[in-house]
Amino acid sequence: MNSVISKICRCKPTRETLMNNEPAEKSHAPQVQYDAPLDDALRPHVYDGDIQEYDKRLPNWWLWTLYGAIAFAFGYWSLFHHWHIADEPGTALDAEMKANALAAAADSGVLDDAQMWLMSRDPAVVAAGQSTFSSTCASCHNTDASGKIGPNLRDEVWIHGGSPHEIVSTITTGVAVKGMPTWGPVLGKKKINEVAAFILSLHKEGEPVIPAAQAAASPKTAQN
Ligand code: HEC
Repeated sequence: MNSVISKICRCKPTRETLMNNEPAEKSHAPQVQYDAPLDDALRPHVYDGDIQEYDKRLPNWWLWTLYGAIAFAFGYWSLFHHWHIADEPGTALDAEMKANALAAAADSGVLDDAQMWLMSRDPAVVAAGQSTFSSTCASCHNTDASGKIGPNLRDEVWIHGGSPHEIVSTITTGVAVKGMPTWGPVLGKKKINEVAAFILSLHKEGEPVIPAAQAAASPKTAQN
C-alpha cells in the first residue's frame, strides 16, 4: 500500500513531507500540490518557512451572492437616498401608520385625543372639516370660527371644555338650551371628527384651556 502511494505521489510532496519542514525546493516541482485536488495551484509565497496557501477560487455561489449584494446596495441607495424615488422603509411605515390611524379615526367615533390631534394636522381631513364648517357651522360661529351667535372657537376660552374629546362631545350632543344644535344624527361620526379636526387645527396641542366662567371673571381674557 505504501509503495503504491509513494508511486502515485512520486512527484509531489506529501502532507507529511511538508509537515516535516522539508523545503519546497526539495520537491520535484515547487508549484505542485500535495494530496489535494489538482486544480488548485499553490501560491508562490511561504510563511514561517513552511506555511503555504492554495490559490483557491471562490465558489460561484459565493461570488454571485457578493455581486448580487453590490447590485442590490447600489439600487437601494439610488432609489431611497440619491433620487428619492421611493420613501425609505421607515418613513413609508410612519406614513402608513398615520394613514391607518386617520382612516380608523375618520370611520370610528371612538378616538383618543392624540389621534384627534394627529387628524388635525392632516391637510385633507382639515379641508374636509372646513368645508363642513363653512356650510353647517359658519352661520353661527363665523367662517373663520371667530364667533357670532355661537362663541369664538379659535381662542383658548371654552364653555364646554377644549380637549379634543370634549369638543367632539359638544358638537355631537349640542347645547339645545343655548341654541347649539345636536349634530350627531345630522352629520355622523366621520364628519364630526373632521369638523372637530378643523377646529383643532386652529389650536396648538398643549395650549391652555381657560374655562369660560373664569374668563368672564377676568376682563383680560374676556370672551366675545
Ligand atoms: C344655530 C347656531 C349654531 C350652529 C349652526 C352651530 N353652533 Fe356651535 N354653538 C352655538 C352656541 C349658541 C354655542 C354656545 C353654547 C353654550 O353657551 O353652552 C355653541 C357652542 C359650540 C361649541 C362649544 C364651544 C365652547 O366654548 O365650549 C362648539 C365646539 C361648537 N359650538 C361647534 C359647532 C360646530 C362644529 C358646528 C357645526 C357643525 C356648530 N357649532 C354649529 C350655536 C351654533
